[in-house]
Amino acid sequence: MPAKGTLALPGDKSISHRSVMLAALSNQQSKITNLSNGNDVKSTISCLVDCGIEIESSSKSHIVNGGIFKQPVSDLDCGNSGTTMRLLIGLLSGQGINANFIGDKSLSNRPMKRIIEPLKKMGLKIESNNSMSPIKISKSMLKGINYTMPVSSAQVKSSILLAALGAKKETIIIENVLSRDHTEIMLQNIGVDIFKKGKSTTLRPCNKFLPQKISIPADPSTAAFFIGAAVLIPESRLLITNLLLNETRIGFLRALEKMGCSFKYLNMRNECGEKVGDLEVSYHKLFGININKADIPSIIDEIPMLALIATQAEGATSVSGAEELRVKESDRIKAICANLKEIGADVIEKSDGFIINGGSKLKSGNIDTFDDHRIAMTFSIASIISEKDIVINNSECINISFPNFFKTLESIMR
Ligand code: S3P
Repeated sequence: MPAKGTLALPGDKSISHRSVMLAALSNQQSKITNLSNGNDVKSTISCLVDCGIEIESSSKSHIVNGGIFKQPVSDLDCGNSGTTMRLLIGLLSGQGINANFIGDKSLSNRPMKRIIEPLKKMGLKIESNNSMSPIKISKSMLKGINYTMPVSSAQVKSSILLAALGAKKETIIIENVLSRDHTEIMLQNIGVDIFKKGKSTTLRPCNKFLPQKISIPADPSTAAFFIGAAVLIPESRLLITNLLLNETRIGFLRALEKMGCSFKYLNMRNECGEKVGDLEVSYHKLFGININKADIPSIIDEIPMLALIATQAEGATSVSGAEELRVKESDRIKAICANLKEIGADVIEKSDGFIINGGSKLKSGNIDTFDDHRIAMTFSIASIISEKDIVINNSECINISFPNFFKTLESIMR
């Protein structure tokens, strides 16, 4: 059955987190529309509310009245969301707040040393459980730092930039491979003195912020599942409207183009500093490719879906330099390889990626999602393209990013 129709998807998750956090800084009212309605962004909202920020949510928009952060009286629960924890630790340390951050089982096992080290260098008093959460921060005088990122991570970069707003002097961050740059774009929009030169970003401290009026473009990482279904099923044609097409986020589209796909980019425009457009996707015959370390940051969240697509391409696809996948919501290299093998794909697991020999006929099987939303969505698409009985445990974890996933999928498979 082909995938057909027009999709208007919820707002990008990364921009959603940042839009509420940055709106919280301004003492004027911000209005946000098309915010992600997943549980991760709900975690960010409830932590900010616990810090005294007023957020009025309706089905149409979110109105934020910020400007003054209060000491939270209980632990800040970040749920499953690494972005909430890492960015809020930076934001609140820059605002001189004492707080204790907790998360669910998955988040409590994710590495936090990557933010603890630079924030300590800035002078933050921070305690952790062996470099993992719970994490406690105490009001500290912060100084600016000159920091070269040891891993390419937008969460780490953003945590430092948000803390640096409240530092004594400017902060400079050097990235070897550019990660998503939404924080930089949005900080500039709210009047922060931040500028980029090659791989270095300089931010000057700031305590006066403009409000935002932002409509968040559709999430390319959510779109990837529907794009994948359309390129794999003959006679498919989908139009995804109002899609975020920021260069640091379209590694998945670039990879599919290398595999033999062609897209139509329509109605291209710039909204609040972000590239946005409508994307037309149709079925294509695909060929294997190599994805290397330099490609990884712009495709990091779409690799599970790319792996599924690779099982249907002609020839081999290899992914290397992707060891970061082992410390996401689950060990995604293990989750991808074990589950693809379970349904009959030819996969070789490597420490930093995998090799997939394409052209497999997928079969029935039992999928362990490891409670990871992107693994659950990937294998839901596998069950559609294979037309086989693929049983997925705890598919409710999809609510982390996209509660309407199954309804949306049903609406295009008709
Ligand atoms: C994100 C950055 C990426 C990405 C995550 C969201 C962000 O993580 O995988 O889903 O919003 O900054 P890293 O910073 O760990 O690469």
